[in-house]
Amino acid sequence: MDVAKLKAQAAETWGKGEYSGLSEMLRPAARVLADACAVSAGQEVLDNAAGDGNLAVICAEEGASVVAADIAPGMVAAGRERSQAEGVDVEWVEADAEDLPFEDARFDCVGSVFGAMLAPRPRVAAEEMFRVVRPGGTVGMTAWLDKGPSYDMFRIGRSYAPPPEPGAETPPGIEEWSREDVVRERFEGLAGSIEVTQATLPWEGESPEHFVAMMERHAPTQAAAKESMPPDRYAQMREEMVEMARGWAGGDRPFSVEGHFAVIVARRPG
Ligand SMILES: C[S@@+](CC[C@H](N)C(=O)[O-])C[C@H]1O[C@@H](n2cnc3c(N)ncnc32)[C@H](O)[C@@H]1O
Repeated sequence: MDVAKLKAQAAETWGKGEYSGLSEMLRPAARVLADACAVSAGQEVLDNAAGDGNLAVICAEEGASVVAADIAPGMVAAGRERSQAEGVDVEWVEADAEDLPFEDARFDCVGSVFGAMLAPRPRVAAEEMFRVVRPGGTVGMTAWLDKGPSYDMFRIGRSYAPPPEPGAETPPGIEEWSREDVVRERFEGLAGSIEVTQATLPWEGESPEHFVAMMERHAPTQAAAKESMPPDRYAQMREEMVEMARGWAGGDRPFSVEGHFAVIVARRPG
């Protein structure tokens, strides 16, 4: 696996689009994770692969002292601007979830909302989260399940992605993080206790077409696909996505479907 290339791609791709729209859609999951991790005033918290800081802002509002880290410089800039605009104190850092620039045991809680699940080497990302959380501290993640609207979207996206070089290793599917047995294996020797539950958040659109246009504008991976793919091929993929959303909506009309995700809460032994 060409890890350096994957990281460079992530840093560039996630800087595209106007992320605020997707961030708003994902926000309920950050609330769920902050509650599941029992984040409270006075704690030191890392929002890992923070995007524009959904978890960071919630934790700062709770009175925690917050650092937000993300691999994409564009995302860090957007997050810094957002936290300033919302009047909350968050320290922003450009950082790879597989190589966190923090000292051992610094944080009471390390949380990641649909972020650390994207690291190409899950065990390395897990070791980093447990390294920077203090003994007795909490590591929390959310990850999409292998069903529902997110999975439908990823499946279509993946089927249009360029094939890997012959013989090249590819990262595991991000949805594997939603399986408790996989989480237990990845956290083996790192976590004292592990709890994996499920929650939902709404995926809504005024119409299937409107939803896909929203993703095109606000989802960095979709914006990057539009920019990089030959126009005919992109149009074909887009039409498949509209068709998929028609399936959720039962036609060309407003819809709200449930996106299921896993909520992982683990503690580092004290
Ligand atoms: C779906 S977004 C979620 C962002 C945010 N947590 C939220 O709640 O909106 C995924 C984020 O993971 C970041 N990311 C991807 N790979 C990463 C890596 N290896 N290290 C750190 N951040 C990464 C992306 O830049 C992006 O901001």
